[in-house]
Amino acid sequence: MKQATARACSNIAFIKYWGNRDETLKIPMNSSISMNLDGIYTETHVRWDDALASDELVLNHQKVTGQALHRVSEHLSFIRNRLNINTFAYVESVNNFPMGAGIASSASSFAALTVAAVKATGADLTERELTSIARLGSGSASRSIPSGFVIWHQGHDHTSSYAESFAQPDYWDLVDVIAIISGEHKAVGSRMGHTSANTSDLQMARVNGAEERLRICQQAIFDRDFSTFADVVEYDSNLMHAVMMTSRPPLFYWLPTTLTVMDAVRHWRSEGVQVCYTLDAGPNVHCICTRPYADVVAQSLRAIAGVNDVRMATVGGGAQLIK
Ligand code: DP6
Repeated sequence: MKQATARACSNIAFIKYWGNRDETLKIPMNSSISMNLDGIYTETHVRWDDALASDELVLNHQKVTGQALHRVSEHLSFIRNRLNINTFAYVESVNNFPMGAGIASSASSFAALTVAAVKATGADLTERELTSIARLGSGSASRSIPSGFVIWHQGHDHTSSYAESFAQPDYWDLVDVIAIISGEHKAVGSRMGHTSANTSDLQMARVNGAEERLRICQQAIFDRDFSTFADVVEYDSNLMHAVMMTSRPPLFYWLPTTLTVMDAVRHWRSEGVQVCYTLDAGPNVHCICTRPYADVVAQSLRAIAGVNDVRMATVGGGAQLIK
């Protein structure tokens, strides 16, 4: 039986991916940087099975059809073509965190799916190629395969658009303290948002400065320079949300508590706490801090009305096969 199980962490971007040059291949408008989130993961089992008449998907213990199955099936078809597989697959996937609330579930899902599906065929592809394949399923999934701090090079075609690690998890002891403000499934997913990004007049300005911000962010990580890091990470997140809010139709992901938390984080930083915020396509606030401040940040977040839960993640490793 051709089967394998893989686990991949979610990741949080410091320099964001928002909008594609090529929608089908998911060649992004700019390169991006992220850290993997240890302990926030998807585990996916894939079995290529001669007896199946179509692909099957069980997600968080429930059989899934429709759009979600279609997206997984499309991804499996790319792998089938690439590796000359003629059978359908049974896929079982479990997330250990709420879906659709700004903790990227597509990133960990497509990273785990790619590694399990490829491994189950017996093929031995390079990590670089795995990241390019994962990208086709979900752009940010490419960044969940390498370990620690990861850069996804924008590239210009399928093989040149890939992700690689530039620092291991223990290089800098950062913690993502996530203020969960809503666990509901977001109304407009990233996929739609990427296609409407260029309807905002601000998108070109965001993209034009992205390379410089990425260079500053990567250097700040190399130097463990929190102050420079915080400035560029918050600025990049604000820019992405400015694009979202000025797209047509506009996308507003923030809730009132989101803004309260962002204000609080800036205030804490002005008092000497090493913390900054970044948001994905959702209302939850990722408060990135250095290890010594993680507990006090978590405690302070819990005291804010409207913060329903707080999760902490240190820097995670790369996608792995599970026995
Ligand atoms: C806001 O990778 O989820 O989290 O490629 O359509 O699956 P698809 O989009 P996705 O977009 C992530 C966008 C983001 C920023 C980021 O992670 O860089």
